[in-house]
Amino acid sequence: MSVLNGQPASESLASELKVVRDHLKKTKTPKVLASEERVSVVSKLTKLLDDKRAKLIAHYYTDSLIQDLAEETNGFVGDSLEMARFGRDSDAEILIVAGVKFMGETAKILSPLKTVLMPTLDATCSLDIACPIDRFSRFCDEHKDRTVVVYANTSAAVKARADWVVTSSIALEVVEHLSDRGEKIIWAPDKHLGSYVQKNTNADILLWDAACIVHEEFKAQGIRDMKKMYPAAAVLAHPEAPGAVLEISDVVGSTTQIIQAAKNLPHNDIIVATDQGIFHKLRKIVPHKNFMIAPTAGHDATCRSCANCPWMSMNSLQATYESLMNSNNEIRVEKELAVKAMVPLQRMLDFAANQQLEVKGRA
Ligand code: 13P
Ligand code: SF4
Repeated sequence: MSVLNGQPASESLASELKVVRDHLKKTKTPKVLASEERVSVVSKLTKLLDDKRAKLIAHYYTDSLIQDLAEETNGFVGDSLEMARFGRDSDAEILIVAGVKFMGETAKILSPLKTVLMPTLDATCSLDIACPIDRFSRFCDEHKDRTVVVYANTSAAVKARADWVVTSSIALEVVEHLSDRGEKIIWAPDKHLGSYVQKNTNADILLWDAACIVHEEFKAQGIRDMKKMYPAAAVLAHPEAPGAVLEISDVVGSTTQIIQAAKNLPHNDIIVATDQGIFHKLRKIVPHKNFMIAPTAGHDATCRSCANCPWMSMNSLQATYESLMNSNNEIRVEKELAVKAMVPLQRMLDFAANQQLEVKGRA
């Protein structure tokens, strides 16, 4: 039996799944608005965003109405790296972040003087839950010779314990850079993304044992069966999906990288292994292509509806309005923690900025 995070892998995973299930039992699914209600909330929110000098920043997995409103009001829709950058660079006084808690915390850490609100503070992430700071800190202490690289889907406290924060769009490049410098690495929390990075960089990586409950459900055999019906289809996958899925994918990347690939590839049929929320943007950008969700097990799955993040779907239009109206659900990160967490986050942003300069220089 493999031992990860200081306890046998199966025991660790079972206890974390229980925490995730217990958390999900306590959360509510937002009510679907009738069309007149929807129009009214959109119009009130549009005015409120303007009156309060606020910007709405949304992730691709959120409700299509929230994504549309963010774009129509000069806010932003993107992957987690781009959301962080937009929040930091925005001159808004208030940022309202529609996504999951780590995204709100990242925005606050990078913009301590701005007010950061979220439609709900219950929207967390299975990766964040599965990487509690006390256990993670002990794990790091046991391997002091290693550089600590954590995925953005973690708490502010875990970020503060890390040397680097990365998102899926830049993980390979950062780890390659560290490995080239001869550094050995602790990677947390997503084991699938960590294994993918390890395979593609050959870096010496010690993995934490956690997974995204949504992406974990994609099945390679289901995709192979689907490819029999659509032999010319391309498969695009998020690196949080299991290795067997990534191996048969044509492109592996962050949500933005998936969207770019969908646009640039010649394929007409495209199988997508990530949260279904992304289909809204995909269909907007490449309306003539046929997008299909990759199959999930369905049976015994921990997600309510597979390929649909239960936490991302808590971000309703109504909750966004109420949060901004009443300044509810403010994200607060204790100052000392924020200062510490800013260091590895800033490292990632500086690294990304240098990389863009290099790409421009080569063009
Ligand atoms: P991206 O950084 O690719 O948007 O991913 C965030 C996430 O939570 C995926 O499940
Ligand atoms: Fe976390 Fe997975 Fe939801 Fe992304 S899709 S926020 S990794 S639980």
